[in-house]
Amino acid sequence: MKGVFKLRHLTLPDPSLLPQLNRDIESRITSLNESHIELVNKAWMFGGDGPSYRTIKHLISHYPTGCITDDQGQPVCWMLLYDYCAMGMMYTLPEHRGQGLAKALVISMSRRLHAQGYPVYGFVEEGNSVSYSLFRELGFTDDPQYRAGWYQFMSKLAGGGLDGKLFCCKL
Ligand SMILES: CC(C)(COP(=O)(O)OP(=O)(O)OC[C@H]1O[C@@H](n2cnc3c(N)ncnc32)[C@H](O)[C@@H]1OP(=O)(O)O)[C@@H](O)C(=O)NCCC(=O)NCCS
Repeated sequence: MKGVFKLRHLTLPDPSLLPQLNRDIESRITSLNESHIELVNKAWMFGGDGPSYRTIKHLISHYPTGCITDDQGQPVCWMLLYDYCAMGMMYTLPEHRGQGLAKALVISMSRRLHAQGYPVYGFVEEGNSVSYSLFRELGFTDDPQYRAGWYQFMSKLAGGGLDGKLFCCKL
């Protein structure tokens, strides 16, 4: 086992209360494609190797993603959807932080999921106060007595690289 990470499980009870999207930012929202896998893999805290590269490739190819680009069309902020429908891998390049980009992607993806009848939720690692406040400010709530866990381990199936599993527990 390489590590166990405690996560808060945040859900959005009432998506109709989400704030309006800033129009300038909204016009820059697009999707990731396969040319962005390496970028996402490098930034993801559980990424950086072959198995994580394959996971990201699978998610980008089969599930909705959100991305905001700069003037040159390069992604500066992005978010993926896991195959269990949770929002994740949210990341903003450090020089673009604090401009409301990640918030805009959460709003946009939440609306999209809700409109299609999917649950709207995500996991935030305990101690990640920036990400936690971002979700809370948008109306997401969590049960203080509940944590999900993510454990990461070396796996032969993953070609000797890291694999991960999610589990849930009541504190
Ligand atoms: C978390 C992260 C994606 C936020 O991206 P961002 O584009 O800067 O976020 P936003 O500009 O939409 O900010 C949303 C809120 O985060 C907070 N915030 C953003 N940058 C902050 C900073 N440097 N310091 C403190 N709070 C900050 C603010 O409360 C802001 O709310 P406000 O709009 O009311 O001021 C970014 O910090 C990041 O990539 N972090 C590393 C990866 C990570 O932790 N991902 C989340 C995994 S769940």
